[in-house]
Amino acid sequence: MGVRARPAHARAGREPARVTLPAWRRRSPPSRAGCETDAPVETYDTLAGVYEWLVPEPLLSPAGSVAAFEAVVAALEPGARVLDCAAGTGTLAVGLALRGLDVVASDASAAMIERTRALAAEHGARVEAVLCAWAQLAARVWEPFDAVFCVGNSLAHAGPRAQRRAALRAMAGLLRPGGLLVRTSRNWEQVRERGSCLLLAEQVVERRGRRGLPVHAWTIADDWDARHVLEVAVGLIGDDGAVETHAERLDFWPFGHEVLDEDLRAAGLVPASTTYAADVPRYLVSARR
Ligand SMILES: C[S@@+](CC[C@H](N)C(=O)[O-])C[C@H]1O[C@@H](n2cnc3c(N)ncnc32)[C@H](O)[C@@H]1O
Repeated sequence: MGVRARPAHARAGREPARVTLPAWRRRSPPSRAGCETDAPVETYDTLAGVYEWLVPEPLLSPAGSVAAFEAVVAALEPGARVLDCAAGTGTLAVGLALRGLDVVASDASAAMIERTRALAAEHGARVEAVLCAWAQLAARVWEPFDAVFCVGNSLAHAGPRAQRRAALRAMAGLLRPGGLLVRTSRNWEQVRERGSCLLLAEQVVERRGRRGLPVHAWTIADDWDARHVLEVAVGLIGDDGAVETHAERLDFWPFGHEVLDEDLRAAGLVPASTTYAADVPRYLVSARR
């Protein structure tokens, strides 16, 4: 049900407002590190419907999504087999298919896979879209892939180190020898340095003719390998000022760039390139099988 609120105002080009959390929010969540046997699955089913309010404008279209990976994509042969194993709304998968690649898109969220299928149909793109968590990838009978993409912070949802390595092993197992794993994420060193906080977008985001205000509440644990929590909400603002809120609470386990390097090697991959630097907010790492 919508809650009436005054429309939010924003000034363009400003960083999100940072709000100090109340004491109860600043406490670390209980650690499940080392005591989990099943890999957690974050489904994003609620956020699927409002995902475009969370994505920067240039990445909204299939062509824009692919452009962000131009260096990697340009090196793939026409018709190369590609898996996007955290496909989300499918913009990258559809963009790759429109570039002439043979694309499979998988995700743990049924709502995300529905969106991927709808986007593929809208663009007349051939994408095999399947509901599949990383823990189930190994059971799939697929021809080996030339490249596997796991981008946009997805890997942090795999769980603590053992589960993250298991997810990477599953992805590596789908690559042909010499095939490339492509992974992007935030710079988690920076996220941890900033600590627990509530970030309100100062700028109202307009998508599909509707205005929305994204809010991110970060709960950062004391230990890297402990469960961290990100609560994401998008308040869609009606013309009458009523706000319809879509929110999801996501667990994540961040990792430093050196730990990622070790994890990739432990999964049987050889790191090939990285754009990591201490001062970049996001970075890409590729690794070969
Ligand atoms: C932050 S979104 C990124 C989506 C897309 N790659 C992008 O860049 O916009 C994370 C995605 O990972 C998926 N995901 C989370 N845990 C997963 C798992 N265990 N197996 C497969 N997909 C998972 C979510 O459903 C979600 O679509």
